[in-house]
Amino acid sequence: MPSPLLAEIDRYRPELTLAEACTPPASWYTDPRFHELELHTTFARSWQYACRVDQVREPGCYVTVEIAGEPLVIVRGNDGVLRGFFNVCRHHAAAVMTEPQGCVKRLTCPYHGWTYTLEGSLKAAPAFEGAINFEPAEHSLVPVATATWENWVFVRIAREGPSLEEFLGPEVIAEVAQLDLGSLHWFDRQHYVFDCNWKVFVDNYLDGGYHIPYLHKGLDSVLDYHKYTIENGRRHCLQSSPIVSRGAEAATGSVRKGDRALYYWFYPNFMFNWYQGIMDTNLVYPRGPNQTEVIFDFWFADVSDEARDFNRNSVEIANRIQGEDQDICKSVQRGLNSRAYDTGRLSLRREGGEQLFHQLLHADLKAGALGA
Ligand code: FES
Ligand SMILES: [Fe+2]
Repeated sequence: MPSPLLAEIDRYRPELTLAEACTPPASWYTDPRFHELELHTTFARSWQYACRVDQVREPGCYVTVEIAGEPLVIVRGNDGVLRGFFNVCRHHAAAVMTEPQGCVKRLTCPYHGWTYTLEGSLKAAPAFEGAINFEPAEHSLVPVATATWENWVFVRIAREGPSLEEFLGPEVIAEVAQLDLGSLHWFDRQHYVFDCNWKVFVDNYLDGGYHIPYLHKGLDSVLDYHKYTIENGRRHCLQSSPIVSRGAEAATGSVRKGDRALYYWFYPNFMFNWYQGIMDTNLVYPRGPNQTEVIFDFWFADVSDEARDFNRNSVEIANRIQGEDQDICKSVQRGLNSRAYDTGRLSLRREGGEQLFHQLLHADLKAGALGA
């Protein structure tokens, strides 16, 4: 008999200091009930990355995505306003837009031809003459909260909740604005599948560089491990390290330059890694209790033909690091399923970001389990 969900949630102690804290119980990472609860709480109530702003710059340009099990479409209206809708036809629920992205004049459902304006209003419903009590205005696409920040579009599935700015906090928005991310250009996207719970990937990301000297020798050669810093905000963590060039492994050193590396994580599942003239965003998406899809978008200051080799090499370095992380995350997931493991302790020097993640998650899961 599995223990009641609430009791399992409350086995985690969010009030403990980092020096005393433990990780959440292994069941959080293995029990399908947690996966379901997270989709309905953590993923539905937080601001979730949907697409890049450059994909939806012109009126009629749209992107379809699935977030927390919900099909969505993001589209720029003729009035220039960016909107998000549930991609669910008001007639008999088919997906209205079926391509990953594109540019159209109106949104036409492929099933029976219901047609919506770019602003979501029902414009045509074929063969509906004579319908009684049928008001087209009551059959608009259902909107979803949508906001842009830097180069990205975010959505919030839950009808009520904080704005994106309130969610992230104005401090980090001002801090990130200084990086001038708008001067970077999107170059490539890579998908990685991890055989682990999504939280294993996030924990690994937030371990304050702890694993870098052991697992990522190339990356370790360009970072100053002892000067690595960890700063928690309201719903984010910034890890940062000076970059060193002396003793750098050649392949990594040639594409990781500048003064500092910045590793930003935003609760729950979005990160960006920044080096001078280089950024990659990471979107961590649960595909089941034991499987995670991680989507990297690579951005560079220069995407001209001359910069192509440099950019390719940079992506290759990221691929190598992902491969190293894929293996260890799979190993961790196997261990979390073992009867020998339940919880573990956190390093005071390194693992403060993980604790913030666990505390925020605990609050969401508890509220969800209590029906709040
Ligand atoms: S389901 Fe869309 S037109 Fe029928
Ligand atoms: Fe790693």
